[in-house]
Order: sequence, then structure tokens, then C-alpha cells
Amino acid sequence: MNKWGKISLGMLLAVGLLTGCGQNKNENNSAAAGNTDTSAAAKTLTLGTSADFPPYEFHKVVDGKDTIVGFDIDIAKDIAADMGAELVIKDLPFDSLLNELSSGRIDIVISGLSPTEERRKSVDLSDVYYKAEQAVVVREADKDKFATMDALKGAKIGIQTGSIQEDIAKGIEGAQLTSLGKISEIVLQLQSNRVDASIMEGPVAKSFVKNVPGLVITDAKPVVEDDGYVIGIKKGNAELLEQVNKTLTRLNSEGKIEAYVAAASELAESK
Ligand code: ARG
Repeated sequence: MNKWGKISLGMLLAVGLLTGCGQNKNENNSAAAGNTDTSAAAKTLTLGTSADFPPYEFHKVVDGKDTIVGFDIDIAKDIAADMGAELVIKDLPFDSLLNELSSGRIDIVISGLSPTEERRKSVDLSDVYYKAEQAVVVREADKDKFATMDALKGAKIGIQTGSIQEDIAKGIEGAQLTSLGKISEIVLQLQSNRVDASIMEGPVAKSFVKNVPGLVITDAKPVVEDDGYVIGIKKGNAELLEQVNKTLTRLNSEGKIEAYVAAASELAESK
């Protein structure tokens, strides 16, 4: 491994460790949500998210403090503010989010969640707030080798457990899958030659290849039916669903979502 490989591996491990501690440390990491009600009975909105997903949700040291940021978090802050509630953020494994929601331990899931029919059976889903394409990430030397989806047949593919990318990869003939909890772990597997390719959201892929030397996005284009991202709400909570859609409509009409995406992408790419 060259010098850059080692350095970036170290960086990723550090990020991984940070993210690991984040799970406990950020349990009650409340973010100011424009709530001026300081009474003891102040309302809270508990967000569940898997903060391994720049620029949607990720850890960043802000003013010397590990903080969960990203455009999903900005949207969550607006929803909480519109409700007059205080936002509480819980960093959880992606594949646990919908269970946590159904059991009432969190109120809302904003985590780059794609609206699948399967998910619709267990939770309610908001309107689509953003759309992006899927991308294939490989080591630089393999860019041409994996230029089409067909070329991924029989390849070793790393994907996040419980994600739609796992379903995409399962549909690739002969592919050998490695399912991992965090995207940063998949990136490490790519760097250390343990997997050859990964499928992830385009904006996430872009953010990782910017920060991790030696990885690139290929020309292969995974196609998904459930494009767009939605917010998950406990089944039957019509009031919250309506509130969430109202905030999304407001943010869209004010052009805020595009602005949040741009700012979060910049933040994700800055050192
Ligand atoms: N969009 C994909 C899905 O819904 C992946 C989302 C992963 N999100 C995350 N924060 N890691 O399955």
C-alpha cells in the first residue's frame, strides 16, 4: 500500500471510531431548533439517522465538538422548528431505523431513505424531498473494467446492510456480497482489496471519492425503481406525517433543499 493509501486508511479508521463513539455520545445530542419554549414540558422530536452518509448525515468536528451535520439534519431542524419542538438526534445503525420507529423509540427517520413497497408496509413515508442517482465506486485501476452493470457479474461487492443497494447487488448474477453496517467500512474493504466494487447514492459516492485517494466512480449506472428520498414516520401518525409534508412543501417552495444540499456537500468535502 502506498503512503496515501495508508494515510487515508488511518483517516477512515479515525472517522469510524468517531462514528462509533457517536452512537452513545450523540444519544441526547439535541440541536437548537429555533424553539424558544424553555418550559420543562417542552416538546421534543427524536430523529433516528445513520450518520455515515455524507452529505446527507455525517459526523464533523464543529467548534471542536463532534457534531452530526448534513442536509437531512437541516431538514429535521426545520421540521422541529415548525412544530415548536426541540430536535434530539440518535445515531443508529441503518438497518435498525425502521424497527426503532415502529417501537416508538424515535419519532422520525431521515436517513437518505428510499421509498420501497416493502418499507411502506411497516411505516408511513412522506413526500419525496430529493432525488439522486446511484453510482458504482471502485479502485482507480478498475475504472474501465467495471464500466457497465454487466461487468459487475461475479464481482465482490460491498453494500450497506438493509439498504436498497443490497437488493440491487443481489440482482447481479454471481455477485459475492459483503454487507456492512457503515459506508466507511465498505470504503476500507475497497481500499484493502477485499471487495472490488460498491454501489451507493451518487452524492455519497462523490463525497467519498473526493476524500479518499485511489477510489473513483465508474460509468456503470445502477437503475432503481424507488428513486427519491422520503421521511419515515410511525404507521398511523397522520398528524406528524401532515406536519412533515407541510415543512417539505415550504422548504421546496423556498428553494431551501437545494441550498442545504449544496452547503452540506461543501462541508462534507472540506477538511
Ligand atoms: N437510499 C438507500 C436506502 O434507503 C440507502 C440509505 C442509507 N442511509 C444512510 N444514512 N446510511 O436503502
